[in-house]
Amino acid sequence: MELEQPDPLHAGRRRVLITGASGQLGRALQREFAEDNLVALSHKEWNVTLPPPRGLAALDLVLHAAAWTDVDGAEADPQGAAAVNIAGTANVASLGAPLVTFSTDYVFDGRKPEPYVESDRVNPLSAYGRTKLHGETAAGPDAWIVRSSWLFGTTGHNFVRTMLRLGSEQEEVAVVDDQRGCPTYVGHLAGAVRELVDTDRPRGVWHLAADGDCTWAELAEAVFSEAGIDCRVRRVSTLELGRPAPRPAHAVLRSERAGAPVLPHWRDGLRECLAAMGSI
Ligand SMILES: NC(=O)c1ccc[n+]([C@@H]2O[C@H](COP(=O)([O-])OP(=O)(O)OC[C@H]3O[C@@H](n4cnc5c(N)ncnc54)[C@H](OP(=O)(O)O)[C@@H]3O)[C@@H](O)[C@H]2O)c1
Repeated sequence: MELEQPDPLHAGRRRVLITGASGQLGRALQREFAEDNLVALSHKEWNVTLPPPRGLAALDLVLHAAAWTDVDGAEADPQGAAAVNIAGTANVASLGAPLVTFSTDYVFDGRKPEPYVESDRVNPLSAYGRTKLHGETAAGPDAWIVRSSWLFGTTGHNFVRTMLRLGSEQEEVAVVDDQRGCPTYVGHLAGAVRELVDTDRPRGVWHLAADGDCTWAELAEAVFSEAGIDCRVRRVSTLELGRPAPRPAHAVLRSERAGAPVLPHWRDGLRECLAAMGSI
C-alpha cells in the first residue's frame, strides 16, 4: 500500500506513526498527540505481520499500539499471537525511527508480594505474556518499552465497559477477587507516554501504570458505585472462573527509575473514563 505524502500544513511538526490506531490505546494516543503530524494506521491499513507499507519515511516517532491482546486466545493460538507481538514488533522496529512499544504486567509471575519494578525478574505464566516479553526484545535496545496494566478506555473491549453492560442486565456478577493490579485509564497512559518522549527520558523499560491497586472485584464495585448501578458483586476465585490462560495473582507495577512520569490514581482514571462516556 502506498501512503499519502505528509500534509504540508503540518510541516515542521513531528511526523508520528501510530500502529493499532483503532485500539483503545491507539485512540487515546491519537488524542494526546493531536498537535503532531499523525499517521494513524489501523489493523486494516497496516497488518504489522507484513513489512511496512511504502511511504513511511522520515518518521520522528513511532507509537506501536498494535498487538494481539486476546490473552485466552493466545493459549489456543500461540503462533498467531507471536506473529503479531514478536514478528510484528520487529517489522515496526525495522522502520528505524525512535520507537515506543507497549508491554504488560503479564511478563511477571505475580508471586512477589511487593510491587514489581523494572529490574525485577520476568517469568511470564501465559503464551500472551511470553509473546509480549519476546516483543520487548524485538523492539530493539533503543526503544522505550512501556509496561502497563489492566487498560481501560471509552472504546473497545475492556473490563469497565463489560461491567457497565452486565451491571445494567443482571442483579449480580461473579468477579475474580484474587488477582491484584493497577487499572490504568488509557488517557492517563497516553499523557505519561508523551511526557516520556517529550522530556527525552532514557530508552529501555519503564513501568507506567495508575497509582493505587485493587482486585477485579473491587474495580467492578467501584464501577457500579461511581455509575450508580444497582448490581451485586459476587467475589470468586480465579480457579472457580476457570479461564484458559494463567494470570499473575499480584502484578502491581511501580517505577524505580528517576524521572518516571507519575499517573493519577486508578479511581480518578475510572471517574474520568465514566464521565467521558456520559455514564456519570
Ligand atoms: N488491554 C490491557 O489490559 C493491556 C494491559 C497491559 C498492556 N497492554 C498492551 O497495550 C497495548 C495496547 O493494547 P490495547 O488495550 O489498546 O489493545 P486493543 O484495544 O486490543 O488494541 C490493539 C489493536 O491492535 C490491532 N491489531 C491486532 N492485530 C494486528 C495486526 N496484525 N496488525 C495491526 N494491528 C493489529 C487491533 O485491531 P483489531 O481489533 O482490528 O484486530 C487493535 O486495534 C498492547 O501492546 C497491549 O499488549 C494492554
